[in-house]
Amino acid sequence: MNITSQFLRDKFLNFFKERGHAVIASASLIPENDPSVLFTTAGMHPLIPYLLGQRHPSGRRLTDVQKCVRTGDIEEVGDDSHLTFFEMLGNWSLGDYFNRQSIAWSYEFLTSKEYLGLDPERLSVTVFAGDDDAPRDEDSAAVWRECGIPSERIYYLPKKNNWWIAGTTGPCGPDTEIFWDTGKPACSDKCDPSCDCGKYLEIWNNVFMQFNRQADGTYLPLAQKNVDTGMGLERTVCVLNGYKSVYDIDLFAGALDKIQQLSGKKYDSDAKTTRAMRIIADHVRTATFLLGDPVGVVPSNVDQGYVLRRLIRRAVRMANTLDMPRLSLQQIAQVYIEVYREVYPELVANADKIIEELNKEEDRFSRTLAAGEKEFFKVIEHIPGKTVPGGTAFKLYDTFGFPVEMTVELAAENGYTVDVEGFRQKYAEHQAKSHAGSEQRFKGGMAEGGGIETTHLHTATHLLQAALRRVLGDEVKQKGSNITPERLRFDFSFSRPMTAEEIAETERLVNEAIRRDLPITCEEMPIEDARKTGAIGLFGDRYGEVVKVYTMGDFSKEICGGPHAQHTGELGRFVITKEQSSSAGVRRIKAELHK
Ligand code: ALA
Repeated sequence: MNITSQFLRDKFLNFFKERGHAVIASASLIPENDPSVLFTTAGMHPLIPYLLGQRHPSGRRLTDVQKCVRTGDIEEVGDDSHLTFFEMLGNWSLGDYFNRQSIAWSYEFLTSKEYLGLDPERLSVTVFAGDDDAPRDEDSAAVWRECGIPSERIYYLPKKNNWWIAGTTGPCGPDTEIFWDTGKPACSDKCDPSCDCGKYLEIWNNVFMQFNRQADGTYLPLAQKNVDTGMGLERTVCVLNGYKSVYDIDLFAGALDKIQQLSGKKYDSDAKTTRAMRIIADHVRTATFLLGDPVGVVPSNVDQGYVLRRLIRRAVRMANTLDMPRLSLQQIAQVYIEVYREVYPELVANADKIIEELNKEEDRFSRTLAAGEKEFFKVIEHIPGKTVPGGTAFKLYDTFGFPVEMTVELAAENGYTVDVEGFRQKYAEHQAKSHAGSEQRFKGGMAEGGGIETTHLHTATHLLQAALRRVLGDEVKQKGSNITPERLRFDFSFSRPMTAEEIAETERLVNEAIRRDLPITCEEMPIEDARKTGAIGLFGDRYGEVVKVYTMGDFSKEICGGPHAQHTGELGRFVITKEQSSSAGVRRIKAELHK
């Protein structure tokens, strides 16, 4: 018998209700009083004032199922576990019980035959390893052992893994995360729950919120000790059924059927088809919830509207690759409206708007998609290298309505990268010309969340490139860059994998440049002069006559549109999280800044 998502919602809420928690409603997907984030990304988000000490009208124990949107990993969607919309099951203690009770209940809920009855042998947990801000969480580890989790399945991990905060300031603290062993063999003898090879699937996170992170990076104790937990509904239903992929659960069945019917293709005919169908199923679901939200969003070129547009247009392009007829997306949305009729009646209430906006956006984009693709293939036939110029990406955006991320994806499918920096420059120039408040729109459109995190990561990208050239030599040239508020991604020419020593040395050089707190200056000069100063960067007329040169002390000089931090010391600690192949002769680094 299939275990349904409604079974899990009911079990979870009842479990916590029986333990004195008030069941509260899911808040809107669009945070109402917090302009610092575009979407509600976790159950705790709408509860921030209460975690900070305000009294909640329903008491000190709460539980809910919260609609969430996270698009940071949008490129991973199509694999077995990533989704841009998901439901988070959560329970909270607002200054009431703490870690011991929280862990004991999580263990009971997961393993007791009366509730989920999961095999405890397949659970692993992580706890905070401790640092200058907070001690090693031996207490939580001890509770896990008392529950029956043996020491070898309790992992101590640093802040990067076992500390939770929404954004960069506010309530936060060490967490303990619960992982399900999917049964995949370990990828190496170093494989642990922090590894993303697919062996360990995170299903629940319990955060022990006891600090309030300040803008200057310091941690003040909160007036009360809270618990904030989040369990992924789709993932857990997948685990309960022993499925391989979240797309196998009940919530997607109707939509995937509809997609097969509309395309006349089978879901599992080949990997590319499966991925395209999953992307459509995921993106249409997220679009349906955004359009159907009580606060509501419509496609546009800024902020939430841009993300929505991007999701719909990507779904349209995927639908096109599957030869689905025009205006197919609304038919898939109709399926979701039915699936969620009882749980999220707002979708039914806003059904007309959902259908109308999806049709409008699909219609708008279908008219230019084919012409834009034609333009893209015409251009790549004639460019000398493997980098699509920023000007082309801008034309595809401006004339054909291609979100730049789509051009990057299309380029990657054909073995090319895109000069995203050049695109940004063109975009900024265009906005300046149209007096549209370029800074704001640029941020809203380009980088979800905008603001300080992305600026810092952008500065870190320059330091990274300078460090790589010191460690690996001048053959290193930027091939692509992509920044989300959480991480940077940098593609560069280099012919072999980096060694562990080279990675460590690169990281060390960047951190040294940060520690030295180098001043960052910007000068404008003609491109010829910029070249003479030794500034690196993609030269070419796409930058126009006069360019900006950003200098970071004696460490880095690069042609770039900005914006950047004022001093390198603002950045925090630089951590390389991945070094991997991107395409032939191109390596890819992912890195983060820890504040
Ligand atoms: N707020 C925590 C999370 O989203 C529970 O993982």
